[in-house]
Amino acid sequence: MEPYYVTTPIYYVNSTPHIGHAYTTVAADVFARHQRQRGRDTFLLTGVDEHASKVARVAEEQGLRPQEYADRIVEAWRSLPARLGVAPDFFIRTSDEGHKQFVQEFLTRIKENGREDIYQGVYAGLYCVGCEAFKTEDELVDGKCPEHDIEPEWIEERNWFFRLSAYQEQLRALYGERADWVLPGFRANEARSFVAGGLQDFSISREGLSWGIPIPWDTDQVAYVWADALVNYLSALTYARPGENLIARYWPGVRHLLAKDILRFHCVYWPAMLLAAGYEVPRQLFVHGYLLLDDRKISKSLGNVVDPLDLVDVYGADPVRFWCARSVSFGQDGAASVAGVRERYERELGNDLGNLLSRTTAMVARYRDGELRAVPSFGSEVEAILAPLGDDVAARLDSFDLTGALERIWEVVRGLNRHVETTAPWQLAKDDARADELDRVLYDLVDGLRAVAVALASYVPETSARILEALGQPPTIDWSEVSYGRTQPVEGLGPAEPLFPRIDEPAPAA
Ligand code: MSP
Repeated sequence: MEPYYVTTPIYYVNSTPHIGHAYTTVAADVFARHQRQRGRDTFLLTGVDEHASKVARVAEEQGLRPQEYADRIVEAWRSLPARLGVAPDFFIRTSDEGHKQFVQEFLTRIKENGREDIYQGVYAGLYCVGCEAFKTEDELVDGKCPEHDIEPEWIEERNWFFRLSAYQEQLRALYGERADWVLPGFRANEARSFVAGGLQDFSISREGLSWGIPIPWDTDQVAYVWADALVNYLSALTYARPGENLIARYWPGVRHLLAKDILRFHCVYWPAMLLAAGYEVPRQLFVHGYLLLDDRKISKSLGNVVDPLDLVDVYGADPVRFWCARSVSFGQDGAASVAGVRERYERELGNDLGNLLSRTTAMVARYRDGELRAVPSFGSEVEAILAPLGDDVAARLDSFDLTGALERIWEVVRGLNRHVETTAPWQLAKDDARADELDRVLYDLVDGLRAVAVALASYVPETSARILEALGQPPTIDWSEVSYGRTQPVEGLGPAEPLFPRIDEPAPAA
């Protein structure tokens, strides 16, 4: 099986982590953990983008060197994945020496590819420092960048340009040949029509800045922040494991996750740069929508930030991860609310899942003195419920259907709850003649919960481990365990502690 390499965008180090960043990070982690459960060689990359011009400006205001300033603020970003239960295989900083050196080599490869794909020219235009991109007049609203609500600046300078226009045909062909190269399909169409509309060369350097990666053949210029940042996906592989170059292992089997705001950079500029430098294009790109609160994109400049760490403090990482996957269909824009975290915590995690575990373990403790016998009854209703689960969830996660795969698991949770009601073990317990039946029902409930815990392990890893422990089962989460009849006999099972106790603190204000 081809190794699975998944990336998040690298976040601007000078911005404040908000729930939108947490969203992509959690999604990438779910995909990575899931592929690992299937025994696949997997690598997850996230990190920070440091060479934005704003970093140098703010550092100067604070009387610091840009690197010193970046070193101080990077911790907020390092702790983001950790607090969300995300364990990236590498956290990249674009100020890493290994990255800087690789970007210089990468740009030199393009310059020397024999096709003059990098040439000198003059650029004049309106530049938005929020987007770190030039804007045309018609992209502005009342003279301001609609994304950032700030007026762009006029910039005129001699820069190095990348001949994007030379890659129009190759990109058009790629979009024609690979139906699922960019997902969802409506995003592929957006990229395809951007290519069809004619590609303009773009500037890859900036003059007179000291904060950035020097252009190796013209050290008065530094690399444009995007020409530097995109390269992180490759550069990280050259120094994440000292002494090892992981490019041959993980490239081009990469899946880039990103939101729609940076579609052109990833789906058009980046593949063209890779082709120009002699690398293969990424295996797949998934473009998700924005998480909206009150119908506005969450971002700092719009004064609409939800600190994901506040939510984690109140509810824990798993409920926040669960909400990210469940609140909005992954790929679509969607309105989410902070109140929704509480609601899902109580109704779905607490009632549907937590109570199922409490009831099941309490019944084994009460009716069987904590002993669960291994009595799978093949042909049972629970077997039928579990049979298609592993394949269904895997197929959905292979196509980035983060929300659909979780809903599929939840159907099973609901099915198990119905099974408790229809089999009514409390009635069976009253009748000695039905002791075998009761044993089978208890076994099926425990087994169903065990399989659900394994299926949920990529979404809510801590919860999954707690369920397995409460059921007296080994912590094995190989994907083959998502099937019926794998529960080990147990003795001494006691009623489980509530998985999601009631929380009395108020939810943080939106
Ligand atoms: N530094 C660039 C990316 C360079 S990648 C080579 C950048 N950084 S960013 O900090 O602005 O964050 C970018 C990403 O954060 C978005 O593409 C998206 O993945 C995520 N999100 C930011 N706001 C978001 C929402 N409101 N909703 C969902 N995701 C959002 O752009």
